[in-house]
Amino acid sequence: MSHYHIKHLEEYYQVYRKSIRNPEIFWEEIAEEHFMWRKKWDKVLDWDFSKPEIKWFDGAKLNITENCIDRHLNTQADKTAILFEPNNPDEGAEHISYKQLHERVCRFANVLKSKGIQKGDRVCIYLPMIPELAISVLACARIGAIHSVVFAGFSANALATRINDAECKMLITSDGSYRGQKTIDLKGIVDEALESCASVESVLVVQRIKSDVNMKSGRDEWLQPLLDQADKTCEAEIMDAEDPLFILYTSGSTGKPKGMVHTTAGYMVYTAYTFKNIFQYKDKDVYWCTADIGWITGHSYIVYGPLCNGATTVMFEGVPNYPDFGRFWDIVEKHKVNQFYTAPTAIRALAKEGIEHIEKHDLSTLKVLGTVGEPINEEAWHWYDDNVGKRKSPIVDTWWQTETGGIMISPIPFATPTKPTYATLPFIGIQPVLMDEDGKPVKANQVDGRLCIKFPWPSIARSIWGDHQRYKNTYFSAFKNMYFTGDAAFRDEVGYYRITGRVDDVIIVSGHNLGTAPIEDAINEHPAVVESAIVGYTHDVKGNALYGYITMKDTGESRNQDNVRQEINQIITEQIGPIAKLDKIQFTKGLPKTRSGKIMRRILRKIASNDTSNLGDTSTLLNPEVVEEIIKGYLK
Ligand code: PRX
Repeated sequence: MSHYHIKHLEEYYQVYRKSIRNPEIFWEEIAEEHFMWRKKWDKVLDWDFSKPEIKWFDGAKLNITENCIDRHLNTQADKTAILFEPNNPDEGAEHISYKQLHERVCRFANVLKSKGIQKGDRVCIYLPMIPELAISVLACARIGAIHSVVFAGFSANALATRINDAECKMLITSDGSYRGQKTIDLKGIVDEALESCASVESVLVVQRIKSDVNMKSGRDEWLQPLLDQADKTCEAEIMDAEDPLFILYTSGSTGKPKGMVHTTAGYMVYTAYTFKNIFQYKDKDVYWCTADIGWITGHSYIVYGPLCNGATTVMFEGVPNYPDFGRFWDIVEKHKVNQFYTAPTAIRALAKEGIEHIEKHDLSTLKVLGTVGEPINEEAWHWYDDNVGKRKSPIVDTWWQTETGGIMISPIPFATPTKPTYATLPFIGIQPVLMDEDGKPVKANQVDGRLCIKFPWPSIARSIWGDHQRYKNTYFSAFKNMYFTGDAAFRDEVGYYRITGRVDDVIIVSGHNLGTAPIEDAINEHPAVVESAIVGYTHDVKGNALYGYITMKDTGESRNQDNVRQEINQIITEQIGPIAKLDKIQFTKGLPKTRSGKIMRRILRKIASNDTSNLGDTSTLLNPEVVEEIIKGYLK
């Protein structure tokens, strides 16, 4: 019998050992007993990190939506699958049962087909957190189209880059979106983006805010009338285990975002299995992850993982401070939420508001609390534990990445003793290794190192869309035969892992991954800018905030620096989105560079953190004189 549901620590160790000694036997048992296959696999695992090539359950045939929806229809057709909580609480929640979800996904899938979408076609989804977002994702999977969800906070330019990279044939969007008291003109952003997207043949528009939008004839259509006419059943396309399920973009060290490609069977098995164990989901539980489906957390732990387990998953359209800072707790109370999964940045923002909002609400249904996206500081961890969990709900600090598809290092609640700021132990099947600077594994405990994984797990991304070489260079070249995560970690005396942060040019702001290169590229478009360098510094709420050092052209006229600051943030908002705006902008005469012309970010990082001890030997720089000037101009 397989160990689908782990309940205590000894069982964790026992199952973990089995999953490492005999990965193929282990994953085969899980796959066989808990999923619906149209045909079983020929081989459980085939892999070679040097190519890199990874195949799980090769030869198997399935459709992930039959696992997420159809197979629950016999046993729990009327159970709520998606519980939608709108931005405005007065609008009232919507309960979508498994039966209704089936019908809505099938209708949507038939609309996609009627628009000529076929297996393998890419469909871009640019929607707010409304039911149609989850439904369109599942509708694509139903017919074998590859979805590429773009977070609806991204700008027209960022959207266009992603649409063009994947050559999407269709775009699904809405007239607009609600965000607290604001409305956002999504369709306007889409229209601007599509001016440079030749591949998009049709646009389906969900009506959400009932705004007056421009509909381009021959291209744009309202979704609802099409759904009304569509048939309510749709045969699921039979997919190969390794057929791509979706593309999801993440930032990298260079300007172009990386379209991570996730495939079908392994992703399904791993997200379902991690969901069950890491949230200890039980039949009648209501589970809520506050992420957006535009990020991997939403893909794996709002849509696929929960639905595969027949769970009730909450989708929240709004923001934590609307109508007030008690909104999260109001939702927990109203829907009797049992598992609550959020990000450290949200915890810190709520902690700042004090506990009176919490005290007004009954949070007694909560059993498990989760956090993801960035390291959680000790103070935030304790605030969450004391005030939200009342010290009785274990906190699962889950470390993972867009690239890993599912949670990699995390406690199993009620089994693994938690420790503030530690993601604790590797999940079943995960073999982490810490590497030293010389590229050697460090065996001892109480050490720091670069975090690598030495054996494939079922939901590892298989490639970067259109650029397999970049996939190899980014993840499999730093250390031989290892997947390199880009993170550093500390392993304590009992083998618990604490993630200490990125070691590349990616900065995590409010849980969002931002590459420095695309932001610098955007800034450099300002006509008065010569060059720029962005670094992160510690911020109370956001975890990290962005500090920009910018060298301006001497144009003879003195420009108002505050205006230039505003213009620069405006360009960043247009090119990437408001999440990438700089908190501090310091104008400099030059940037410190090595003799080969490389910007010394290490020095800039220290100055931005107001720590100018140990700057190292700056005399070997090309331009040592700028360092002193930059220190003097430091912005508090
Ligand atoms: O640096 C790690 C950090 O977020 C990165 C991955 O970001 P992304 O692909 O956007 O996925 C975020 C959601 C899975 C990681 O390389 N990170 C994520 N979770 C944690 C974390 N850092 C510390 N602790 C975590 N629990």
